[in-house]
Amino acid sequence: MGTLFLYIVVVLLVLLYKTPLLSSSPTSLSLPSVLKPGSSLSVENKDDFLISPNGLFTAGFYSVGENAYCFSVWFTKPLADQSHTIVWMANRDAPVNGKRSKLSLLKTGNLVLRDAAQPLPIWTTNIIDSKEPAQLFINDTGNLYLQNNETQVIWQSFGSPTDTLLPLQKFTKDTSLVSSRSLTNHSSGFYKLYFDNDNVIRLVYNGPSVAGIYWPDPKITAWASGRSTWASRRTATLDLSGHFVSSDSLFFNTSDSENQSVRRLTVDVDGNFRAYSLDETRGIWKVTWQAISDTCRVHGICGENSTCSISPNHGRKCSCIPNHTMINQTDWSYGCKPEFNTTLCGNGEDDFLHFPHYDFYGYEARFVPNVTLDECKRVCLGICNCKGFHFNYETEGYFSCYAKFKLINGFRTMSSNGSMYLKVPKSILLLSNNSEKIVHEDRLICSEKLPTVRIDRAYIKNPKNESVKSLMIFTYVFGALETICIIYFFYRTRNPSKTRQGYVQAATGFQRFSYAELKKTTKNFSKEIGRGGGGIVYKGEFSNNRVAAVKLLKEFGNKQGETELLAEISTLGRLNHMNLIDIWGYCAERKHKLLVYEYMENGSLAQNLHSSKLDWGKRFDITVGTAKGLAYLHEECLEWVLHCDVKPHNILLDSNWNPKVADFGLSKLLDRDGTRNSEFTRARGTRGYMAPEWLFVNHPITSKVDVYSYGVVVLEMITGRSPTGDQCAKSKGRLDSWVKEKMIAAGGTKDWIEEVVDVTVDGKYDTSKMEILIKVALQCSAEDKDARPTMSQVVDMLLHVEN
Ligand SMILES: *[C@@H]1O[C@H](CO)[C@@H](O)[C@H](O)[C@H]1NC(C)=O
Ligand SMILES: *[C@@H]1O[C@H](CO)[C@@H](O)[C@H](O)[C@H]1NC(C)=O
Ligand SMILES: *[C@@H]1O[C@H](CO)[C@@H](O)[C@H](O)[C@H]1NC(C)=O
Ligand SMILES: *[C@@H]1O[C@H](CO)[C@@H](O)[C@H](O)[C@H]1NC(C)=O
Ligand SMILES: *[C@@H]1O[C@H](CO)[C@@H](O)[C@H](O)[C@H]1NC(C)=O
Ligand SMILES: *[C@@H]1O[C@H](CO)[C@@H](O)[C@H](O)[C@H]1NC(C)=O
Ligand SMILES: *[C@@H]1O[C@H](CO)[C@@H](O)[C@H](O)[C@H]1NC(C)=O
Ligand SMILES: *[C@@H]1O[C@H](CO)[C@@H](O)[C@H](O)[C@H]1NC(C)=O
Ligand SMILES: *[C@@H]1O[C@H](CO)[C@@H](O)[C@H](O)[C@H]1NC(C)=O
Ligand SMILES: *[C@@H]1O[C@H](CO)[C@@H](O)[C@H](O)[C@H]1NC(C)=O
Ligand SMILES: *[C@@H]1O[C@H](CO)[C@@H](O)[C@H](O)[C@H]1NC(C)=O
Ligand SMILES: *[C@@H]1O[C@H](CO)[C@@H](O)[C@H](O)[C@H]1NC(C)=O
Repeated sequence: MGTLFLYIVVVLLVLLYKTPLLSSSPTSLSLPSVLKPGSSLSVENKDDFLISPNGLFTAGFYSVGENAYCFSVWFTKPLADQSHTIVWMANRDAPVNGKRSKLSLLKTGNLVLRDAAQPLPIWTTNIIDSKEPAQLFINDTGNLYLQNNETQVIWQSFGSPTDTLLPLQKFTKDTSLVSSRSLTNHSSGFYKLYFDNDNVIRLVYNGPSVAGIYWPDPKITAWASGRSTWASRRTATLDLSGHFVSSDSLFFNTSDSENQSVRRLTVDVDGNFRAYSLDETRGIWKVTWQAISDTCRVHGICGENSTCSISPNHGRKCSCIPNHTMINQTDWSYGCKPEFNTTLCGNGEDDFLHFPHYDFYGYEARFVPNVTLDECKRVCLGICNCKGFHFNYETEGYFSCYAKFKLINGFRTMSSNGSMYLKVPKSILLLSNNSEKIVHEDRLICSEKLPTVRIDRAYIKNPKNESVKSLMIFTYVFGALETICIIYFFYRTRNPSKTRQGYVQAATGFQRFSYAELKKTTKNFSKEIGRGGGGIVYKGEFSNNRVAAVKLLKEFGNKQGETELLAEISTLGRLNHMNLIDIWGYCAERKHKLLVYEYMENGSLAQNLHSSKLDWGKRFDITVGTAKGLAYLHEECLEWVLHCDVKPHNILLDSNWNPKVADFGLSKLLDRDGTRNSEFTRARGTRGYMAPEWLFVNHPITSKVDVYSYGVVVLEMITGRSPTGDQCAKSKGRLDSWVKEKMIAAGGTKDWIEEVVDVTVDGKYDTSKMEILIKVALQCSAEDKDARPTMSQVVDMLLHVEN
């Protein structure tokens, strides 16, 4: 019995060795890039793909949800998060069943996509005149095309793009790009890029009820935006080196132009039109150009009665106007409805709520130039359906009044002096005196789970006859044996750590380095560049001239293995912010645990605190940047990450003196409500920067510990005094107490500012700006954690000072 089994195994192995599955390496995959007339691609067969000769693009059935497939073209190589980037779809609005759906190339040259349950084709190329057969090809540029035997292209996917334009693909009067509905729903969304009937490329929001052009800026003429309406044709293309040329004089170069890169231009779900380049080493797309920088100018993001503002940590944010609530808790496009039910036509019963720095686009009931505020109020009160007005400062002593009958496309703008005045019943105004503070901030409910499409289409089962069935059973059994053998074969021939390495890298997006490699790049750990909480950091130089910071973790030591290290750093893979340090990879070999970060030319803030290179302008930028980085860490929709050791040593500076927060993420993750803090068995942090609540066992640890440390760091940057130094001895060792004492001693004058500010720092500063900065820092380092602002509030306060 045993010998028989061994014999079978040997025979199978010999057979297997000859099968292409094992003998071909992934680089030499010879998958077809041509579909012959009369043949078809089936949704069920996982090998039914066409791959472009260079391997960059794949065409086939792409799963867009549970049992839902679209025939698509995508970039073959997955990104670091294992997702694929789709560049074209045949049937984006009508996904087909996951069983017995087929794309067939008919003998007449027509390409037809059929769903088994539907009598009519879901999609077809509709080539009527061609009676000749044609072949379906996929090009190196990502073009899927039908070519007859006279080498004429009779149909091409480049002629009917979905939301993406590839390099060399012509954008013409007959094509348009339409965004996807959402990140998970690929069907047609509301944003469209097209050539308008005056020959200008525009972006339009084409929503369910209203539509509006938002790019180029509709408030000025096309000519003023640098576009030409007098073109002899309507075409635009992006070339391989990142130059975009359009017939309406829209020319731009991507930020990495001249370099060869995998590129795409996409109308994104947020309504912006962006150019991307693939960062192949990290497996992510980088934005290299975008049409709109103030993304709140895109129409239709926040529905009626809500406003859009840019949140530094999370991009755009919608908020209801005061005394209104979200209509649909999961979708801002529904807008907000009033909480009150008095009608706004109340014969002197209405008043106005001042809403500074906000504007709503369009929908004017009346425009009155050169008026006073009182006159404008009377104008709006006189119009029954006036919902409010925008009172705009035009020039010295000259204001215009825009009375609006619909409050839509609201946005916050710091660049104009205009204000919105909202009409509300008097009763509400009496209740809420402090009107400027009551912007209602409903948040979207964060959801990690991606929705899936379920198509419940019945399909007719063809009863298979018995011989087919038994054949299939045989195939399954054989397949199972084959699988076992392949696994056996792999274990025998491959280095097990290598396969694991590939798997791990795919799962986390981090590169795994060997200890020997890192030892070499750091020249045997010779160039120490810093010491952090977790270990010592060394400078490393890779052979391709990339410079990295390599951190030797001491804490991890022997106790924990690779899995624990990966679990700890896996959150970092999802963090991506310009004020957070980038992590490239790691090493975990026996007792050696290392992390590889991007290298920061200017070292840490601690090293530069007393440097003459850091003038007040740079110091201010560092406080804002650091706050943004921390605010992003604390952001609600991410997993909540506390830093727990904010100090000048952990704030690094790149060649442009932009700050990047480092050393985060190795602290444990907390539950959002901060109740599960039993993980913190001992206080973390550094003396002088540690929040008081660390010292009390029963005090919950929340994001406010980082706010405290941040406050201390800012005070240190301003005063040049160390929070652990002797200078503060008289003030019970606390920097904030010292500053407060000076403030009180000055007795209402501003003299204290000069006293606390470091005189050795170069450059002038604006006293009022400095005063606000110090006050924010003092608020942050308040003893009572509830008195401290959140990190995003800090960013907001500091950005207000900037403007
Ligand atoms: C195929 O790609 C080449 C460039 O790689 C291009 O010149 C050619 O026009 C493409 N063919 C079609 C039919 O798109
Ligand atoms: C083109 O197709 C026709 C018939 O379909 C065939 O007779 C002819 O030989 C083909 N030409 C070439 C160049 O293959
Ligand atoms: C783009 O780069 C080309 C040269 O590579 C230059 O001639 C052109 O002026 C640039 N266009 C813009 C808009 O900067
Ligand atoms: C272009 O590529 C070179 C070499 O890879 C690189 O040094 C340079 O920074 C790149 N330029 C841009 C603008 O990305
Ligand atoms: C209006 O909003 C304020 C602040 O949000 C609230 O205090 C007040 O009760 C609201 N008024 C009504 C009538 O809902
Ligand atoms: C809210 O919006 C979602 C998504 O658009 C939709 O599925 C849901 O039915 C809506 N809920 C209500 C109460 O309208
Ligand atoms: C917006 O608010 C106004 C009153 O402020 C109300 O009349 C209108 O119906 C609201 N819009 C929506 C979509 O609820
Ligand atoms: C608003 O309507 C609700 C019921 O629809 C009612 O109970 C409430 O008293 C009304 N409020 C006002 C201020 O009229
Ligand atoms: C605005 O109106 C005032 C008086 O109402 C007038 O003196 C002034 O000239 C006007 N300004 C302009 C620019 O028309
Ligand atoms: C805002 O108003 C002030 C005077 O009130 C003026 O000096 C300043 O230029 C205005 N700013 C803008 C952007 O209009
Ligand atoms: C609202 O505040 C102002 C001062 O900001 C005060 O004069 C007024 O009496 C207050 N009104 C109410 C109803 O509290
Ligand atoms: C995707 O969006 C379309 C509308 O454009 C809708 O009909 C469809 O149900 C959506 N699918 C999911 C899964 O939400």
